Amino acid sequence: MLKKVGILANGGDVSGFNAVIRAIVKTAENHGVECYGIIDGYNGLLKKDFEILSTAAEGEAMGILPKGGSIIGSSTNANLFNYKVVNEDGSIEYKDMSDKAIENIKEFGFDCIFTLGGDGTQKSARDFSTKGVRVIGVPKTIDNDVACTEITFGYNTAVSVSMEALDRLHTTGETHHRIMVLEVMGRYAGWIALESAIAGGADIALIPEIPYDINRVAEKINNRRKRGKNFSVVVVAEGAKPKGGDITIIETRDNGTGVDNTKLGGVGQIIAQQLQEITGLEARNTTLGYMQRGGTPTAYDRVLSTKYGSKAMELALEGKFGTLVVIKNGKLDFVSLEDVVGNNKKIGAVSGNTEESNLRKVSMEDDLVKTARNIGINLGD
Ligand code: F6P
Repeated sequence: MLKKVGILANGGDVSGFNAVIRAIVKTAENHGVECYGIIDGYNGLLKKDFEILSTAAEGEAMGILPKGGSIIGSSTNANLFNYKVVNEDGSIEYKDMSDKAIENIKEFGFDCIFTLGGDGTQKSARDFSTKGVRVIGVPKTIDNDVACTEITFGYNTAVSVSMEALDRLHTTGETHHRIMVLEVMGRYAGWIALESAIAGGADIALIPEIPYDINRVAEKINNRRKRGKNFSVVVVAEGAKPKGGDITIIETRDNGTGVDNTKLGGVGQIIAQQLQEITGLEARNTTLGYMQRGGTPTAYDRVLSTKYGSKAMELALEGKFGTLVVIKNGKLDFVSLEDVVGNNKKIGAVSGNTEESNLRKVSMEDDLVKTARNIGINLGD
């Protein structure tokens, strides 16, 4: 019998967090289950920061479907299995705080915790599950790279925002005969860049999975010029790298393993400069950044998030813990969290959000790659 459940949102925010929360709460209410928000991701478990969620008038979860962000906050730096603790004397230690969190879960009486997040979040969820906590994951991230699911919530909104930016860059690029570069998010997977390039009619899409040759990109631009098109639109994922080169990191932090410690960015500017030098055409870079994550979700993301949230609660009612809700062959389904994290048995052994993570990257056989190539989008190779 489920009586009390907790919901936590963890990792970088996306449009759709609140829609998932609302769907879990509504489904729970229909079964007499009480829902609590765990504030600021995994941090809330440690700090015992819980807030009742209800869709009744004046309830926290009322009217949140179109709202961006997360009403229960989120955290991009909390891995409770290797938690950064700053001591009174200023020294830093990394401690396993998971037992303390489990004590808090038991004390408060949570029968299940829903973990809304990407691969790092689901790794921690799997680790808690291994230690006996009942968890159910919901796959989130604009990067669309969580393993075992065909789509994550938040991704469609990011693609739409990027597509709109490309439409706008087209008209200014055409007017001034310029190369317009748009840098979008996508650390290790180029889904946003690839799909928005198709949706927004870009001429070139550079993704982390295909290291680019800048001369091949310039060649495409020059060929367009020969055909009387003296402007070009390039979309580049922040994690794109040149052949034989590295990703562009603008900042690093030290919050231990299991969290994302690098801030990517800058590759768009580098590419714009190089293309200007090689082609002689003026080039400009625009970095789309957090525009892709903020604000209201698209209709697609509202529906996907609602499906995910209600299915997650359904799984909890059926006692199917230690799982992740997924879309498989276009239909709602679930898989074991073990499969999501790559069957890595050792707790904390693999950190999230790294190149070594079990991520769903763009495969060369994907329809999007074939479509892009068929219509002449240059992929930098
Ligand atoms: O993983 C999602 C994501 O939006 C990445 O595309 C991006 O590199 C990262 O988060 C940025 O996160 P932060 O909020 O730490 O800047």
